Amino acid sequence: LVSDMKGVKAGKLNLAIITTAKYFVPRLLGLFCQRYPGIDVSLKVTNRERVLQRLADNQDDLYVLGAPPEDMDIEIEPFLENPLVVLAASNHALAAEKNISLQRLTEEQFLMREQGSGIRLATEQFFAERGLKLKVRMELGSNEAIKQAVVGGLGIAVLSAHTLALDRDSQELAILDVQGFPIQRHWYLAHPKEKQLSVVALAFLEFLHKESKLVGEKYLQGIPGFPTRKNGGK
Ligand code: PGA
Repeated sequence: LVSDMKGVKAGKLNLAIITTAKYFVPRLLGLFCQRYPGIDVSLKVTNRERVLQRLADNQDDLYVLGAPPEDMDIEIEPFLENPLVVLAASNHALAAEKNISLQRLTEEQFLMREQGSGIRLATEQFFAERGLKLKVRMELGSNEAIKQAVVGGLGIAVLSAHTLALDRDSQELAILDVQGFPIQRHWYLAHPKEKQLSVVALAFLEFLHKESKLVGEKYLQGIPGFPTRKNGGK
């Protein structure tokens, strides 16, 4: 088995991951590289559409996605929760409210990721399925830029709770208490079905499955509001 392998001494691991996974995967890579110091890792961070394109072109060893694509012949497995929350500036009027309705949110100005973003897709679908449409004040190409714009009072936004990784003690951002939120999603590890994975890629796959639960749960717990399950969970 890969875990018994002494052979993973050197080699290259190419990963392509969606933007929310960059708050988690590099930490995990730290542990992985301690265990396998000879491995050279390359990490591409981009949005869903571009990760899917790289997957279709077979450019990397493994891919992290926020939702399985509908029409691709791939191996794909969930490995960790990726909940979406509504963020506002902590001095926003809604920050003090409880159980905010989705209808009420449609009166607010939203800051949205670019077309091709998986978060944007998930957010638009979530509201569309409930017959609601959001007012989009501005489109921004990065989660970090959105957080800064939220703090700057430009609007509110739906983002992954993982984007709060280093801001968990922030006094400037608030997670709003909204009905139906957090939207429960997962990260998925994917690769083309017919692809012969390298020994290094197999070692990472096994490592991810073993370690991500341990590291991930501890990690989400530090984020305000997590792992609180508001909708029927415990
Ligand atoms: P995105 O995907 O970077 O394409 O928005 C992130 C996610 O789905 O969590």
